[in-house]
Amino acid sequence: MNGVEADDLVRRIDGFSRQAREAVEKARSSDDVEALRIRAFGRKDGYLTACLRELPLVRPEERRRVGELANRVKRELEELIERRLTELRGQERQAGRERLDLTLPGRRPALGTVHPLTQVNDEIVRIFMGLGFSVADGPEVESDYNNFEALNIPRDHPARDMQDTFYLSAETLLRTHTSPVQIRTMKETRPPVRIICPGRVYRRDADITHSPMFHQVEGLAVDRGISMGDLKGTLEVFAREMFGERSKIRFRPSFFPFTEPSAEVDVLCFLCAGVGCRVCKSGWLEILGSGMVHPQVLRNVGYDPEAVTGWAFGMGVERIAMLKYGVDDIRLFFENDLGFLTQFV
Ligand code: FA5
Ligand code: MG
Repeated sequence: MNGVEADDLVRRIDGFSRQAREAVEKARSSDDVEALRIRAFGRKDGYLTACLRELPLVRPEERRRVGELANRVKRELEELIERRLTELRGQERQAGRERLDLTLPGRRPALGTVHPLTQVNDEIVRIFMGLGFSVADGPEVESDYNNFEALNIPRDHPARDMQDTFYLSAETLLRTHTSPVQIRTMKETRPPVRIICPGRVYRRDADITHSPMFHQVEGLAVDRGISMGDLKGTLEVFAREMFGERSKIRFRPSFFPFTEPSAEVDVLCFLCAGVGCRVCKSGWLEILGSGMVHPQVLRNVGYDPEAVTGWAFGMGVERIAMLKYGVDDIRLFFENDLGFLTQFV
């Protein structure tokens, strides 16, 4: 193998080092400095890389001297390149800023929109406030007593199967409907009562029209001489306000242990105009349950069923929103998809 003269290699390293330093100082742009870095240290064709590769060919007793020099030059050049790069990049950023066109219009920050369920909820509250109802409130973690017993649904009553319940303990649960707020309100106040209660409720229930967490608005009116006719009239006014003059609703006899008689209200499905589709199946979509407050419930809260009567309803906010906006899957409301949510402005 041909040896390499130590002095010759030192001369070449020194020469390159001088040239490279000068070029780095003179460089006008960070790109020029990057190009230099590659010319010096590039893995394949870098000049200093090549010099270092020749080191094993230098006579052993000289190798150390040359090696130390090569490494010092390498380190110093790297430092110089780093410093110059930082300097040039700073200048380039500054220049970029100075090229900013201040006459361009600003970027509009994205604005949020009110969630469609909140919009519908607010609209329901607005309509009933206009009819003289006030807003009551109750907890989502409720006692078994308020959610079931006081509403005439004893333990082991088959009606408990109508609402598959999330229990937290034997005595507490996530309320399955807003009806316990009827009990809380009546226990605290004397007739006349005219309240609505919007809130979240929970059931083990999930498909395109059922969600495990959903919203109801409870309504309750108790006074002397209140009749089923008042209930019907009130809900007809509500439906016209919510869905428009041409909307159609129907009362369908039903059963709830806490009302007698009971009725469910369906709205003609806007998605299929009553023909029957994957959402409504029958052409009608159920939006609420209702009825005359059961005398036993009145007695449970200390009211005299001989003196006062009342009606109550519990409506599903998601169902109303689906009908109002033609949404064919309840899950869309809970997926936080901005493409979906920003349609409702
Ligand atoms: C009740 O919850 C009764 N508390 C209503 C009531 C109140 C009757 C006062 C009499 C007096 P129901 O289980 O049918 O009834 O639910 C009422 C409404 O909530 C339904 O009409 C429907 O619109 C809606 N709903 C029920 N389950 C779900 C669910 N899983 N997801 C979305 N909406 C639902
Ligand atoms: Mg029902």
